[in-house]
Amino acid sequence: MKKGSDGDGFFLTFAAMFKKLRQKWKVSGPRLALILCTFAIGGSLTGYVARKLMPFLSIDQKGIWVLVYIVLVTLIWPLAVLLISIPFGQFRFFSSYLQKIGRRMGLGRKHLTNDSESVRLKNIAIFASGAGSNAQKIIQYFNNNLQKTANRVALIVSNNSAAGIVDIAQKEGIPLLILEKERFLNGDGHLPELKSAGIDFIVLAGFLWKVPVSLIRAYPGAIINIHPALLPHYGGKGMYGRFVHEAVLANNEKESGITIHYVDELYDHGSIIQQFKCPVLPADTATSLAERVQALEHAHYAPVIESVIK
Ligand code: GAR
Repeated sequence: MKKGSDGDGFFLTFAAMFKKLRQKWKVSGPRLALILCTFAIGGSLTGYVARKLMPFLSIDQKGIWVLVYIVLVTLIWPLAVLLISIPFGQFRFFSSYLQKIGRRMGLGRKHLTNDSESVRLKNIAIFASGAGSNAQKIIQYFNNNLQKTANRVALIVSNNSAAGIVDIAQKEGIPLLILEKERFLNGDGHLPELKSAGIDFIVLAGFLWKVPVSLIRAYPGAIINIHPALLPHYGGKGMYGRFVHEAVLANNEKESGITIHYVDELYDHGSIIQQFKCPVLPADTATSLAERVQALEHAHYAPVIESVIK
């Protein structure tokens, strides 16, 4: 009996191609499906628009008609895929894809590159466990200042697949890595994935697991954390979120603030890079104090990251 049919062969080739593309672009299966849909619909839209435009150019000669049609398609295609990528949530992927093509063609600024050209783009990984409001601000900051800083958020890492940060990664089209506890804390620290994503710098933004020594050694002086209080006070294991603010209020502190510091083997302990203060008001609750402290975090973390990377 014949073992496999032509249909099976086609399916296997298709599956292998799908897998290869996923590895090449470092995306999940569903995301690759969205990217391929964008390519397909963007391509069809390009053909449709080009055919609608051609009659307006009134070209009779067949050779010239074909030539002009090719030029039109080349010009329309990037716009069409960018447009279609928006409802599919893949704008970031396609804008960097098109930039890459542009650079290969010798267009655009040479220094913004992830390859081996003059000034290499620095890739940041954000580690977060919760809502991800700091991560969102950092992503926005580096998106808005890509030319100036040559830094970008290239990977989101989380220990919690149900956290808000996961939605942010998907919305922003940034690759996401969900950590396996045993492997992260007692194994290779997921270092291979960080290296293959080309990560240069690690930013903790509400990340609740301890960073393993393997990562601290692999990224010397290149892992920083933010803490919602003035360290060395109100830090350590279990001191996060509202627990920090409740402790500050219980001690009748007159001021609180944020600390940005390098990460070492202990919780909230490495050397301090910068602190920013705010008052603690008599009527404060943990919520109102948290809001004031969070405003400091949102205003200062990204620019400090930029200056540390520099
Ligand atoms: C931030 O306030 C950050 O300082 C804190 O977690 C919050 C994360 O909020 N980190 C720690 O307490 C570390 N010990 P976010 O998810 O909205 O960015």
